[in-house]
Amino acid sequence: MKNIILTGDRPTGRLHLGHYVGSLKRRVELQNSGNFDEINILIADDQALTDNADDPGKIRDNIVNVVLDYLSVGIDPAKTTICVQSALPALHALTFYYMNLVTTARLSRNPTIKAEIQMRGFSDEGLPAGFFTYPVSQTADITAFDANVVPVGEDQLPMLEQAREIVEKFNKIYGETLVLPKAMIPENEFQRRLPGVDGKAKMSKSLGNCIYLSDTAAAVKKQVNGKMYTDPLHLQISDPGHTEGNVVFTYLDALCTDEHFAEYLPDYANLEEMKEHYRRGGLGDGVCKKFLINVLEETLSPIRTERAKWEKDISSVYDIISSGTAAAVEKTNATLARVRKAMRINYFDDRSIIKEWETLLKKANQ
Ligand code: TRP
Repeated sequence: MKNIILTGDRPTGRLHLGHYVGSLKRRVELQNSGNFDEINILIADDQALTDNADDPGKIRDNIVNVVLDYLSVGIDPAKTTICVQSALPALHALTFYYMNLVTTARLSRNPTIKAEIQMRGFSDEGLPAGFFTYPVSQTADITAFDANVVPVGEDQLPMLEQAREIVEKFNKIYGETLVLPKAMIPENEFQRRLPGVDGKAKMSKSLGNCIYLSDTAAAVKKQVNGKMYTDPLHLQISDPGHTEGNVVFTYLDALCTDEHFAEYLPDYANLEEMKEHYRRGGLGDGVCKKFLINVLEETLSPIRTERAKWEKDISSVYDIISSGTAAAVEKTNATLARVRKAMRINYFDDRSIIKEWETLLKKANQ
C-alpha cells in the first residue's frame, strides 16, 4: 500500500500560529521526510461555503492568502500537490453517495459539529444542511486521494472517526474499494490546541486573539504585551508564580527549544529550569514575555520574508494551484470511477450492459 497524505484548510482567513504549531510545521516535516509517496493539500473552499454561503467573496479572497501561507512556511509545490476543492467534481459525486451511508442521528452526535453549531448560533437561526453534512464531504476529500494518513488538529478527530465509519460501511457493502484513513495529531499536547493570546480556548479572528503568520513584528509584540495574561497571583517579581494555565508558558511549551535558551536566555538551559525559577519566585513576567517575543520572532520572521517574496509573484502562485488542481482532478476522477464500478453504476464505461439488459429481457419474455 502507498503512503499518501491528504490534509486541508478552509480558506476563511489568513493562517495563524495555531495552524502553524498544530499542523503546518508538521506538514513541512512530513513533506521533507521522504516517507510518503504522495502529499496533497486541499484548499477546502466548498467546505468554507457551508457556513459562508452569503459571502463567497470572502472565500475567493482568502484562497490566495492560504496558499501564500503554505508557501511561506515551506510547503514545496515540487513535493506537495496544492489543489482547490471546488474544482474537483469527483468530490461532489462521492459526497452524494456517502450521504447514503450515514444517518442524521450519527451526524448529530459529532462533537466538533455540535460545538461549531453553537459557536455560529446556528441552533437558533437554522442549520444549513451543507454545514451539518460537511463531515461526509470531508470523507470524500480524504478517500478521493486514497489517503491513509491525515495530519490534522485535535478538533478534527471526530471527522476522521466519521470517515473511517463510512469507509468501512462502503467496503462492506460494495467490496474492498476505499482506503481506511488514520488521523495524525501532534505529539506535543500544547501544540494540539494552542489557545488564543488571551488564553481563550482557540485562536479566532472574531475574538481578536490571533497571531497571524503574516503579522508584522510590531503586531506580534503588541499581542503578547497587550493581551497575554500571566499568573494573576504573581504580583511582585519575588512572588511564587504558576506556570500551568499561564499563556506565556503554554506558548513556550508549544514553541521553544533549548537552542532558543542558548541564544536569548542563557540563564537557563531549558524550559524546565525557567519554569522552576518562575514557580519559586524571582522571575518577572517582563523577562518571560521578552523571551517569548524572541522565540516568536525567530519562528515568524523567515515565514514573513518568504511570504513577501511570493506576494510579488502572484502569477506563479496561481500556476502552482492551477497545475496542482489539474493533477488532483485526474487522481480524484480515477477514484470516482473505481467507486462507481464497485457500486455497479458505471453504466457508460463500456457497452457491456446492453448484453446484460438484452439477456434480462429475453428471460422475462420467455
Ligand atoms: N475541516 C478541516 C478544518 O476545518 C479542513 C478540511 C477540509 C480537511 N477537508 C479536509 C482536513 C480533509 C483534513 C482532510 O481544519
